[in-house]
Amino acid sequence: MGRAFVYVILGGGVAAGYAALEFSKRGVSPGELCIISDEPVAPYERPALSKGYLLPGAPARLPSFHTCVGTHEERLTPKWYKEHGIELVLGTRVKSADVRRKTLLTATGETISYKILIIATGARALRLEEFGVNGSDAENVCYLRDIADANRIVDVMKSCPEGNAVVIGGGYVGMECAASLVINKINVSMVFPEEHCMARLFTPKIASYYEDYYNGKGIKFVKGTILSSFEFDSDGKVTAVILTDGTRLDANMVIVGIGIRPNTSLFEGQLTLEKGGIKVNGLMQTSNSSVYAVGDVAAFPVKLFGETRRLEHVDSARKSARHAVAVILNPEETGEFDYLPFFYSRIFSLSWQFYGDNAGEVVHYGDFLGTKFGAYWVSKGQLVGSFLEGGSKEEYEAIARATRQKSTVENLTELEEQGLGFALAI
Ligand code: FDA
Ligand code: NAD
Repeated sequence: MGRAFVYVILGGGVAAGYAALEFSKRGVSPGELCIISDEPVAPYERPALSKGYLLPGAPARLPSFHTCVGTHEERLTPKWYKEHGIELVLGTRVKSADVRRKTLLTATGETISYKILIIATGARALRLEEFGVNGSDAENVCYLRDIADANRIVDVMKSCPEGNAVVIGGGYVGMECAASLVINKINVSMVFPEEHCMARLFTPKIASYYEDYYNGKGIKFVKGTILSSFEFDSDGKVTAVILTDGTRLDANMVIVGIGIRPNTSLFEGQLTLEKGGIKVNGLMQTSNSSVYAVGDVAAFPVKLFGETRRLEHVDSARKSARHAVAVILNPEETGEFDYLPFFYSRIFSLSWQFYGDNAGEVVHYGDFLGTKFGAYWVSKGQLVGSFLEGGSKEEYEAIARATRQKSTVENLTELEEQGLGFALAI
């Protein structure tokens, strides 16, 4: 059995939702487009899962955060897809792909063929077993990638009011989940191997601000060590976490956020890979011209830095997806993707944004004892990256603009003195 579509989007996450909106805006006929997702729900704004979804009181729940509410655009409910003649094949895993024959085989045994394929398979959470630690299957050990994971966190939190949580990993998931746990009155210890949190992006000085803030909320940091094993009760639930330095932490629950791996396996040996993802050109086209890749799974040329990068952030997923659709439907009017990397996070009452690249020399500015501060990264006399905590809309726009323009920096001491004024003057 089989069905044929002109366009197929493989994956039903953030990129798929924004691609669907772009298809409908640029004009797609009913029955031409299909989205296949192994999630049981229509595309949604994944960032909500570590923030609003985990809050006590009135947590965010579908359908409120289907794409594309994250950019204040239309909310694409299942009804919207139906009305636009876009086929949503949900709860269906694609288990193999043949890019030569232009077919996908689903776990239900259906063959879906396409003329043009957009790969938007995102990524999966790395598991502890991949680092040699067993215990991921225990009912109180949680990961966070999809709604099923988020529901599990909510249930486990409810099962241990005022209990102890150990958060493994000091990256985005670790930091945002720790905040949500504390808001739910759970005691939190964070464990990670680096010397400070958010080591991929933060400088030690920036990290120390957030760590002090977290300490003030009662969150404890156990740094420079990793988990070596769990202790379990007779029901198989984790009761304690043992670290490689011998420390034992009581645990009623564990959240693991130790990074991701892009979902490339269907295409290994068929498409060119790079940086752990599927390599695309500036038109988001893979090594097979009928196949595009977008979002977390795509390694694309970041023109601004003259380098291929794979980004794991929502803005990049949204914009790369829209760009691929523009290329597909309006090729003459669409040039190469010219993207300024943008990352952000909101935790407690804090909120930061980052643009560009954290490479080169760093200059900090602003009030690290107050609520507004930041950093600039300068390479070869040019501004290449900007971070700001506590900024206004205009200030964030200013640092984005200054970074996009690669503004010239003549003197680092002057830049430090000018601080935010440097970007605002551009
Ligand atoms: P995404 O993971 O969204 O979607 C991939 C889809 O493909 C899923 O539906 C998956 O089930 C499906 N799929 C994969 N393989 C399949 C197969 N073989 N068959 C069928 N379906 C398949 N970023 C940011 O900038 N700010 C933020 O605040 C956050 N917050 C945040 C919180 C949490 C909890 C997570 C997990 C992630 C974030 N992010 C973020 C990152 C952001 O959500 C991420 O970059 C985008 O979701 C990437 O979008 P994609 O569509 O590429 O993948
Ligand atoms: P991450 O890459 O941000 O952080 C991984 C962390 O795991 C590292 O900081 C390190 O501390 C830790 N680690 C690595 N190996 C370890 C080990 N063996 N033991 C213990 N700790 C170890 O990944 P994440 O936090 O898991 O986030 C997953 C994905 O979700 C990322 O793609 C991220 O971009 C995305 N996300 C983004 C946001 C945001 O942009 N605001 C929020 C949540 C999630």
